[in-house]
Order: sequence, then C-alpha cells, then structure tokens
Amino acid sequence: MSAPRIQVPRGTYDVLPEHELARRALEDAARGILGGAGYRRIETPAFEATELFARGVGASTDIVQKEMYTFVDGGERSLTLRPEGTAPVCRAYLEHGMQTQPQPVKLWYLSSFFRYERAQAGRFRQFWQVGAEAIGSDDPAVDAESIVLLAALLDELEVRGVRLRLASLGSPAARAAYRGALTAHLRANEQRLSQEVRARIDLNPLRAFDADDPATREVMASAPRLIDWLDDDDAQHFATVRALLDSAGVDYEVDPTLVRGLDYYTRTVFEFTSDALGAQSGVGGGGRYDGLVEMLGGPPTPGMGWAAGIERILLAGELRPAPEPLVDLFVAFDSDEQRARAFALASEARRAGLAVQQELAGRSLKGQFKQADRLGARYIAVCGEDSIAFKDLQSGEQETVDSASGAVAMALRGRHGMGQPL
Ligand code: HAM
Repeated sequence: MSAPRIQVPRGTYDVLPEHELARRALEDAARGILGGAGYRRIETPAFEATELFARGVGASTDIVQKEMYTFVDGGERSLTLRPEGTAPVCRAYLEHGMQTQPQPVKLWYLSSFFRYERAQAGRFRQFWQVGAEAIGSDDPAVDAESIVLLAALLDELEVRGVRLRLASLGSPAARAAYRGALTAHLRANEQRLSQEVRARIDLNPLRAFDADDPATREVMASAPRLIDWLDDDDAQHFATVRALLDSAGVDYEVDPTLVRGLDYYTRTVFEFTSDALGAQSGVGGGGRYDGLVEMLGGPPTPGMGWAAGIERILLAGELRPAPEPLVDLFVAFDSDEQRARAFALASEARRAGLAVQQELAGRSLKGQFKQADRLGARYIAVCGEDSIAFKDLQSGEQETVDSASGAVAMALRGRHGMGQPL
C-alpha cells in the first residue's frame, strides 16, 4: 500500500518549468521598464513583525482583520507572512537610512505574497506581485510617472482590455471632514444598507462604495463624493497628475467611487483592470501613501507606488508560443567504457560556453540520436574509443576529431569562436 498523496494547499500552485518562459518575459520587461526609469530591485523577507502590517496596512482592513498568515515563532514573537510589499519597503527605507540618498528613492520588487482569501480563478493564497515604490517626493510628477510605467508594462506584455481608473483621496484632514458627511448619510439611510455595511459604518464607511448589495448601491449613488471635499492643495495636486497623464497620452477615467483595500493611501489612487479577467478584474493598482513612513516611526516622508498581480497579468496577456530552449550539443556514447570520456566532453563544452545535454538514462545509441532530435540539438557528439564523431543534425554534415582533449577543445572553441554554436 502506498502512502496517501499530499497536494499543494488550497489557493497555492506550483510554478512549473513550462511557466518559466512567460514569467521570465514578465520579469525582463519589468526590469527593462523600471530599471530604465531608475528603480532598483529590492527583496525584503517573506515574513515580518506582525506590527508592521497592523500599523502599516491598517487595523480596519480585511487584510489585517482576516487575511494574514500570522504565527508565533520559537522566540514568542508574532510574525506574519507578508500580505503586501509597500509597508516592508518603507520599513527597509527607514532601516537602511535611505532618506540620506537623493530623493525619491525608487525601488521595485517581484516576490510572492500571502493572503488568506477565498481561492478562485485569479485569486490565490500565495500569489506573486511586481511592484514599484518611489519614496521621498510629493511631486505630482512622481504619481504620473509611476502610473505611466505600469501602463507601459501592461502594454509591453500585451495585457488585453486594460482600463485605468483614477481618483484622489485627499489629505487625512479632508478625508476626516468627508468621513463625517458620509457617515451621516449612511446613518440617515441605515435601514436600506446591507448588514455588513451597517456593521462597518464607524469603522470604515468608505468601503460601502465597494458593496455589491443593490439596496446599498442605491444609497451610495446619492452619497457625498470625496472628490468634492478635497482641499485646494490636494485638488491642485490631482489636477497636475491628470494633466501629466494627458500629456503622456495615457487614457483614464476619474472614478470617485474607487476604493482600495489598504488604509495608507492619501491623494492619488488608481487601479488598472482588464476586461479579459472575470470577477477578479484588478490587474494592478496603487497610489500615494504620504503618511506611511511616519506611521512606521520615521520622519514625515511622502511615497507613491503600485503593485500588479503576476497571475492576472499572465491570464490577461496575449499568449505567445514559447520558443524551444536552445541545445547546442548532445553528447552521446556508444559503450559504457566511453561514459567518462563523454562526461568530460560535456563538461568541457559547457566551459566553452555551449548549451549541452548528455545521455543520462542508459539509452541505446539509436535512442540517444532520437533524444538529441527531440531536444532540438544542433549537433550530436558520439564518443568512441579514440575519436569523437560530430554530426550537424541540421545539415547532416559529419566530422571526426581525435579524442585527445586538446584537439576537442580546439574544435569546440574554433567553431564557437566563429559566432556559430559549436
Ligand atoms: P493590492 O491592490 O492589494 O495592492 O494588490 C495589487 C495587485 O495584486 C492586485 O491588483 C492584484 O492583481 C494582485 N493581487 C492581490 N491579491 C491577490 C490574490 N489573492 N491573488 C492574486 N492576485 C492578487 C497592494 O498590494 C499594494 N501594496 C499596492 C501598492 C504599492 N500601493 C502602493 N504601493
């Protein structure tokens, strides 16, 4: 009796070799676009002090209330698998004294994140994000540049049906005044609200804009809009961000009902969606978080950034045929006595810079030719007692060289040096 199989936990998945090419293309595009704009890559730990997210992401958010993987370690510390990347990057900014560098400090990441969410298509419990944060400047050009870079990334990856929604949440002071007006509106219509929204009137009234319940949506249609409560500075900031996006030719829709699931946002917020995705249509989003660094114990420091879901980009991106990986040379051998010689040749050819595979499964010589063919190898080398026969599998040309290693090295290097594989 064999032991019962163990499968991946719900909401997680294996990244298989056949997924690697698309993911690498995404990573290369991110590196090209973000690196070109002065962002440098950062990798923070997979777990952090729970306090970082409780304070940073906000105690009233779904993430902190019910989605964090929190555990106590052997030293009695409460730790949490990172549910997002902005708070950790701000922590790192402070921890490494990056405020002394020229501002804004631009950082990008591509990592996995963890949220205990209801698993469904496009929504996982361990998922991957590419993200970019620019910390240390409140210039509206930072907002616009950041948004333009995500638009460029989605464009390069041919994500289909992309739409951009944009709003401003204003400053905490404007938001507090607005919150009073919104709460009053919700209280006045309390009977028509869903149970869930009613329970959160005081905790997070803004989330009511997110409700699916029809009666609640009706109440929200006549609710006061934050965008009408912005103070002059915030309104000016938002107008400049929009003008810059217009000048860069980026299409967007101002959506005063845009709600983000994290509490640290101030001023600009935005979200890219894709029509090619189902219910989980958010491809990427972000915004300004001018109070976050201070909330984490640092000096007042503005910040702006976004994150986009890798799985959703791949789901909504154009599928491209994956090119076959290149194999320059397949090293074969006729009899067991030649195994060590073949092994040495494969190692030597790799040192010469070739992509080499060798026989590893005890195939007959005929089987080895078949395998070389299957792999799409350009050349096959068959090791004999005193010589090695090279065959060009494309042209059928053949050549035999002496197996004294000097001659082989020269043959490899000579051909390789001529700019051709082998
Ligand atoms: P977020 O909107 O929570 O923002 O996540 C950003 C993106 O990550 C989403 O648009 C979505 O594509 C993807 N995502 C989120 N949760 C899941 C999930 N469970 N499964 C699959 N994909 C998911 C943030 O995380 C902020 N840190 C963004 C930010 C950076 N704001 C400022 N700087």
